[in-house]
Formats: sequence, C-alpha cells, structure tokens
Amino acid sequence: MKIHARTERLLLRDWENSDLDDYALIITDPDVMKNIGEGKPRPRSDAEAFIKTVLEHQQTRGWTRFAVEHADSGQLMGFCGIDDKMGRYDFGWRYSKNFWGSGYGYEAAAAALWVCQNTFFLTHITSQSYLENAGSIRIIEKMGMVKIGEGTDFGRPLWVYGFKNEWPDGLR
Ligand SMILES: CC(C)(COP(=O)(O)OP(=O)(O)OC[C@H]1O[C@@H](n2cnc3c(N)ncnc32)[C@H](O)[C@@H]1OP(=O)(O)O)[C@@H](O)C(=O)NCCC(=O)NCCS
Repeated sequence: MKIHARTERLLLRDWENSDLDDYALIITDPDVMKNIGEGKPRPRSDAEAFIKTVLEHQQTRGWTRFAVEHADSGQLMGFCGIDDKMGRYDFGWRYSKNFWGSGYGYEAAAAALWVCQNTFFLTHITSQSYLENAGSIRIIEKMGMVKIGEGTDFGRPLWVYGFKNEWPDGLR
C-alpha cells in the first residue's frame, strides 16, 4: 500500500478494499453530503463503485482522491485530492463528521496539493463549492486559489476556483 504523504497527524495513502465499510458510513451521512451534488446521502452501492474506481485509478495512473487516514488511530477519515470525471482536474475532500473542526481539512489539502503538483505534475487544478459551504471555501482560499468561474449544479449556485497564474482569463 503506497503512502503519498505524511503530515503531523495524517497519512495520505492509496485505497484498499477494506476501506469500504468506513467510506460507506461517510457517504450515507446526510450532514456530510448536504453540500455535495444533489445534497443527499448516497447508498452503500455508491461506495462500492467509488472503491472500484479509485483502486483502478491508483493502479493505472497513480493518483486519485487519496484516502486520508488518521495517523494515531489508523481510522479512515475520508478523502482529499483530484478527480477528473468533470473533464478537468477537480480537487475535493470529504470527511467523516467526527473529524471536522480540527484543522484536518486544510492539513490534508495542503499535502495533497503538493503531491499532485510535485509528484504527478498536474496543472490547471480547480476546485468548486456551493456558496453555502463556508468550510470548503475557506480551505480553497487558504490553498491560494481564487474564483475563476461560476455555475450551478442541481439548481444550486457554485463557484469554481483555480490558481490565478494558470487561469488568467478565468475558466473557459
Ligand atoms: C468542509 C470540510 C472538508 C472542512 O473540514 P475541516 O477539517 O472541518 O476544516 P478545517 O478544520 O481544516 O478548517 C479550515 C478552515 O475552514 C473553516 N471552517 C471549517 N468548517 C467551517 C464551517 N462549517 N463554517 C465556517 N468556517 C469553517 C475553519 O475555521 C478554518 O478556517 P481558519 O483556518 O481560517 O480558522 C468538512 O466539513 C467536510 O468534510 N464536509 C463535508 C464534505 C464536503 O462538504 N465536501 C466539500 C464539497 S465542495
């Protein structure tokens, strides 16, 4: 199992089949999912499909949304990193509620960004958030991204962010 980064409190690592139960608990929690996509919890079958996809991506190209593990307890906290299913590099995160509010979100984001840029040489990374998701927007801003576009998803307004030097004319 490959470890992509270690921070003071976290491991960013490849996924394993044994992460399925913990990941299913995360996406079936309505509080976790309220600012993602449709804003509704998702069934366990989505967790199964997700694990299948990330296992494939880490095998074929090395990067995916990394599993984030709590170093002290060994617990899977959620994910952080890049997905490309929207046709661009979309950087995102999702954690179990137990871990919110302790700085883990930004700690993982900073480490995952470094790996994506310096190990996998990904550029033109974006991130997007519904306007109500203050925590996510704060992490995006702390990563140094600025607003480069806007849109809607499921009828909800969202902003898209990127690095100003890579998107001088905004998202096109
Ligand atoms: C959003 C999320 C990743 C934040 O994780 P976290 O570990 O609580 O974030 P951090 O503790 O690192 O906080 C980072 C910053 O955001 C702020 N913040 C976090 N949650 C916040 C909230 N609900 N409201 C306002 N600010 C918030 C923190 O105060 C901190 O700012 P500071 O450094 O200026 O003090 C987490 O709540 C989560 O997994 N949410 C559900 C999934 C989700 O919405 N994903 C994103 C979809 S776009």
